[in-house]
Amino acid sequence: MKVQRLILVAVFFYLACTELVNGQPRKDCQTRCGNVTIEYPFGTSQGCYYADDPSFNLTCNDKEKLFFRNNIEVINISHSGELRVMTNTSYACYDSQGNSNGSRYYTYRLGSLSLSHKNKFNVVGCNAVALLSTFGPQNYSTGCLSACNFPPVANGDCNGAGCCRTDVSDPYDSYSFQTRSSRLQNMTSVYDFNPCTYAFLAENGTFHFDALEDLKNLRNVNEFPLVLDWSIGNQTCEQVGNRSICGMFNSTCFNSTRGTGYNCKCLEGFEGNPYLSNEHGCQDINECTTNSTIHKHNCSDPSTCRDKVGGFDCKCQSGYRLDTTTMKCKHKDFGWATILLGTTIGFLSILLIISCVQQRMKHRKAAELRQKFFEQNGGGMLVQRLSGPGTSNANVKIFTEEGMKTSTNGYDKSRILGQGGQGTVYKGILPDNSIVAIKKARLGDNSQVEQFINEVLVLSQINHRNVVKLLGCCLETEVPLLVYEFINSGTLFDHLHGSLFAVEIAGTLAYLHSSASIPIIHRDVKTANILLDENLTAKVADFGASRLIPMDKEQLTTMVQGTIGYLDPEYYHTGLLNEKSDVYSFGVVVMELLTGQKALCFERPQQSKHLVNYISSAMKENRLHEVIDAKIINENSWKEINEAVRVAMECTRVTGEERPLMTEVAAKLEGLRVTKAKHQWSDQYPGDETENLVGVGVLSAQGDTSSTGYDSIKNVASMQVAAGR
Ligand SMILES: *[C@@H]1O[C@H](CO)[C@@H](O)[C@H](O)[C@H]1NC(C)=O
Ligand SMILES: *[C@@H]1O[C@H](CO)[C@@H](O)[C@H](O)[C@H]1NC(C)=O
Ligand SMILES: *[C@@H]1O[C@H](CO)[C@@H](O)[C@H](O)[C@H]1NC(C)=O
Ligand SMILES: *[C@@H]1O[C@H](CO)[C@@H](O)[C@H](O)[C@H]1NC(C)=O
Ligand SMILES: *[C@@H]1O[C@H](CO)[C@@H](O)[C@H](O)[C@H]1NC(C)=O
Ligand SMILES: *[C@@H]1O[C@H](CO)[C@@H](O)[C@H](O)[C@H]1NC(C)=O
Ligand SMILES: *[C@@H]1O[C@H](CO)[C@@H](O)[C@H](O)[C@H]1NC(C)=O
Ligand SMILES: *[C@@H]1O[C@H](CO)[C@@H](O)[C@H](O)[C@H]1NC(C)=O
Ligand SMILES: *[C@@H]1O[C@H](CO)[C@@H](O)[C@H](O)[C@H]1NC(C)=O
Ligand SMILES: *[C@@H]1O[C@H](CO)[C@@H](O)[C@H](O)[C@H]1NC(C)=O
Ligand SMILES: *[C@@H]1O[C@H](CO)[C@@H](O)[C@H](O)[C@H]1NC(C)=O
Ligand SMILES: *[C@@H]1O[C@H](CO)[C@@H](O)[C@H](O)[C@H]1NC(C)=O
Repeated sequence: MKVQRLILVAVFFYLACTELVNGQPRKDCQTRCGNVTIEYPFGTSQGCYYADDPSFNLTCNDKEKLFFRNNIEVINISHSGELRVMTNTSYACYDSQGNSNGSRYYTYRLGSLSLSHKNKFNVVGCNAVALLSTFGPQNYSTGCLSACNFPPVANGDCNGAGCCRTDVSDPYDSYSFQTRSSRLQNMTSVYDFNPCTYAFLAENGTFHFDALEDLKNLRNVNEFPLVLDWSIGNQTCEQVGNRSICGMFNSTCFNSTRGTGYNCKCLEGFEGNPYLSNEHGCQDINECTTNSTIHKHNCSDPSTCRDKVGGFDCKCQSGYRLDTTTMKCKHKDFGWATILLGTTIGFLSILLIISCVQQRMKHRKAAELRQKFFEQNGGGMLVQRLSGPGTSNANVKIFTEEGMKTSTNGYDKSRILGQGGQGTVYKGILPDNSIVAIKKARLGDNSQVEQFINEVLVLSQINHRNVVKLLGCCLETEVPLLVYEFINSGTLFDHLHGSLFAVEIAGTLAYLHSSASIPIIHRDVKTANILLDENLTAKVADFGASRLIPMDKEQLTTMVQGTIGYLDPEYYHTGLLNEKSDVYSFGVVVMELLTGQKALCFERPQQSKHLVNYISSAMKENRLHEVIDAKIINENSWKEINEAVRVAMECTRVTGEERPLMTEVAAKLEGLRVTKAKHQWSDQYPGDETENLVGVGVLSAQGDTSSTGYDSIKNVASMQVAAGR
């Protein structure tokens, strides 16, 4: 039992070591012998050659020469079914007498191989005849004859003169061949130039006949390459099916050209040994990098070559295309339309970008400008003053430039309500459809700017039914804009009638002078600055020239401002401002109301151009009834008119000290009015209104410690910043 087992194991190892594993040669097979690469199915040891046929058993001798059948030297093995070998030349030599002086003929055994049609049978010699004989199931012989009795001159042409050449037709089943040569007849005349005759097989193209040298002694050359055909087995590809020994990958079987058996070859685009399944089998050829002229790519532009499994592509870079006629990469053509379109789009987008950038810069510049104006117009100061801790009673809204522009329809001329010394007043319609009056200062007058800010500050302190209400301002324009409530019935100037206005205005001015915690001098009291609403309620407007007077300052020296005709002459001469200046102006307004005449009229006689002079001269001449408006005379008793004229005259005294206080004036006028008993004074000033003047109270406290009365004003007015900023 044990012995049997050992034998089994031994047989197994023997098989494993010697037999082909999976029909493939061993890994340690000899691959080279001298200069010759040994490739399967040929091999030099068991397990290395195709085992079914001993013809594939080669030997490599100690001189590094590879032999087939021991006596044929192998110089090349081709996968396609060819074996290149070297065979000796047969010869027959003679002496000068025609006697034989040595001859040799060779017989080579072929095994399963056969002579290739690529070989030629050659005879060299004069009067020489040679035979090529093949032995097998049937014997064949072919021959060649060369007859000449003098040295031929033609070189390189084996055409019968000293050399004869013939094709080889060898059936695949012969197992040996023999070449031999001899003289055709006893011919001593050729001895000098041709002592021997030669016969040999050589691959077509390897032997070039040299008449002088070769006829003399071809034995020096001796060996010629010969091609033998080989194939696997004696079956066709179809017969052998998948039992072929072709490699598993990318290898294919083909019928042998010699008429029996099959051979293998790599598929197109692959190279390697088609009989192997390992890494030496058929491998993809990188046609783009190979040095082989057979497999090299044919891309006209080598840089376009792209290798792929089993082949290659001539692909151009993106943006290029292959021109199939020239096989060259060409720029993808852009039609004129495409170029035009591309250029246009590019141009347009550049324009767009530029205009975008410009627009942005413009916007930024505009915003910067607005901010600059805002600061320049005292916006910062105003915001600081308007904002502060505590409750608020004044709503001063800050409008945007944009809002102003749209509400005035772009400062349209048709929207102009009036133009005065301080600027232009426009009618504006706010987004909530409320109507406002927008006052715009004259351009390029910095003192006007100050007046605007001043007016904002003053008006934000006042809440009186007879004072035009300031709604807000816009400081983003070059000159600031002030937004007022809209008084739609025009100015007192337009409605010169009814002394009721005088009472209201006197009350208002008295309030400004005394009721407000810091006295406010209007400085520009005139009929044009007294507006009437739809109920014909008088509203004092235009506080641009107004001054807040701190408590401890009786008089203020300022630049003289006002309107000629209403301007207090004392103030005009001294520049010293006090509340009596307003009293003077008011006196002129009362005179206007009484007479219906303008304060200054150049159509009146020289001395009476000024209304004050006009009335005083009328009084002196006792013709007051001539100058008083007829309407006034109808509505009032003469006593009242006289009293009013007296008040007006008192108000317009040249010396301010002699003029009554505004409160006194108001009281006197009220007294006149009470006698008419139409309304109660208190009706017009509801009690709660004084409580609304909290901001003014604060103003007073701060004003006491300040020399100017402005800087420390801390109003508790709330500030609304209009949306859009
Ligand atoms: C191999 O080839 C070279 C040159 O072709 C030759 O000199 C050398 O003798 C060759 N070697 C053998 C072993 O045939
Ligand atoms: C065998 O011949 C082929 C061409 O038929 C050649 O490419 C190859 O180099 C040769 N090999 C040897 C060892 O001479
Ligand atoms: C291969 O050939 C050599 C020499 O011709 C011979 O000695 C050897 O036995 C052969 N091998 C086989 C397995 O026939
Ligand atoms: C062929 O000739 C060479 C010498 O030229 C010799 O060594 C070799 O043995 C010969 N071959 C045969 C098969 O006789
Ligand atoms: C006969 O052959 C031998 C060698 O083979 C040579 O040396 C000799 O010269 C030859 N004789 C004649 C007469 O050619
Ligand atoms: C060949 O012919 C010559 C004379 O032409 C003669 O001497 C010689 O003996 C002949 N040789 C043979 C082998 O017959
Ligand atoms: C072929 O030739 C050989 C040797 O001359 C001979 O032994 C054999 O009988 C021949 N075969 C045939 C079929 O004639
Ligand atoms: C032999 O080679 C020549 C060129 O060398 C060629 O023209 C001819 O066709 C070839 N003949 C055969 C049978 O291969
Ligand atoms: C094919 O070869 C085998 C041996 O390898 C042999 O037995 C068979 O008779 C052969 N067939 C033909 C048609 O030659
Ligand atoms: C070549 O062989 C590989 C496996 O090595 C296979 O994936 C591929 O499909 C084969 N190519 C072709 C053309 O048969
Ligand atoms: C091989 O030969 C057979 C018979 O001659 C034929 O039917 C078959 O198509 C051939 N196969 C190939 C692959 O050439
Ligand atoms: C191709 O030839 C170059 C030199 O001509 C050589 O350096 C390179 O190794 C060769 N490449 C291959 C794959 O044979």
